[in-house]
Amino acid sequence: MATMRVGLVGCGNIASDICLAVRDRDIPAEVVALTDIDVSRAEALRNDYKLNACIGTLDELAGAVDYIVECAVAAVVPEVVDAAVRHGVDCLVMSVGGLLERPELFDLARRNNVNLWVPSGAICGIDGIRAAMHAGLDEVTLTTSKPPKGLKDAPYLRDKGIDLEGLTEPLVVFEGTARDAVRAFPANINVAASLSLAGLGPDRTRVRLVADPGTTVNTHEIHAKGPFGELTAIMRNCPSPRNPKSSYMASLSACVEVASAARLFAARTGRE
Ligand SMILES: NC(=O)c1ccc[n+]([C@@H]2O[C@H](COP(=O)([O-])OP(=O)(O)OC[C@H]3O[C@@H](n4cnc5c(N)ncnc54)[C@H](O)[C@@H]3O)[C@@H](O)[C@H]2O)c1
Repeated sequence: MATMRVGLVGCGNIASDICLAVRDRDIPAEVVALTDIDVSRAEALRNDYKLNACIGTLDELAGAVDYIVECAVAAVVPEVVDAAVRHGVDCLVMSVGGLLERPELFDLARRNNVNLWVPSGAICGIDGIRAAMHAGLDEVTLTTSKPPKGLKDAPYLRDKGIDLEGLTEPLVVFEGTARDAVRAFPANINVAASLSLAGLGPDRTRVRLVADPGTTVNTHEIHAKGPFGELTAIMRNCPSPRNPKSSYMASLSACVEVASAARLFAARTGRE
């Protein structure tokens, strides 16, 4: 029986969790194409999950699949959306920060009847923010706390000369707009991008980032106010079982989106 053909752009942690869910039939799809800047990672993924998948360029991948999952890095998002549009294929974007700087990508996709899927990622409460936005929101704030090692290598800390080594108390390392947060911490705060896309946008969504030596988990706390009332949503993320640097919830949110897309695909095409 034919199923939705998925292509994975980026063969790291999230890709691996998707392959696991496909193997266990939690996602009714098959992974048929892989691409990664580091080909050995694509080969390892293919071997680990015994995938019947080709490894090639982004363009080859887009031409061979029904659905693309970008789970690589924010900088590659415009290229991936462009390839999705050229081949008329829907696309899940995990590196949501990559969409924030390029809102025209949504218009491009829409004009070409391509759906861009944005996951809730490592936060909860996006459903409430979206619904509340129907009547407008007055304010939305995200406070993210991470263990200092989770912020290692962030360009912002390097540029500002902020050293988190030996920190003994929580330290607010950033306070500003979601747009600036995503620029400052491109690999760490995709949730700020998802939240601002669902609500007030990148310039009116406020972000506070705390390095907390007393925690081992990533915590995201959303506060929002508007005519609807007030919303508080707190997520304490366990690390992914296969990658301690990544939140398990991010992978789970990717899996649930791909599974939904696969079911829609089956309903639309009569194939499963
Ligand atoms: N939306 C969210 O809440 C959320 C949460 C966690 C991670 N993410 C994002 O999802 C993406 C993947 O996360 P991960 O934990 O799987 O990362 P990972 O580091 O485990 O894997 C990323 C893979 O992408 C590959 N890659 C890097 N640049 C590439 C390029 N230009 N073209 C093709 N492949 C490239 C790397 O070699 C690596 O194999 C990251 O951008 C991460 O920031 C989003």
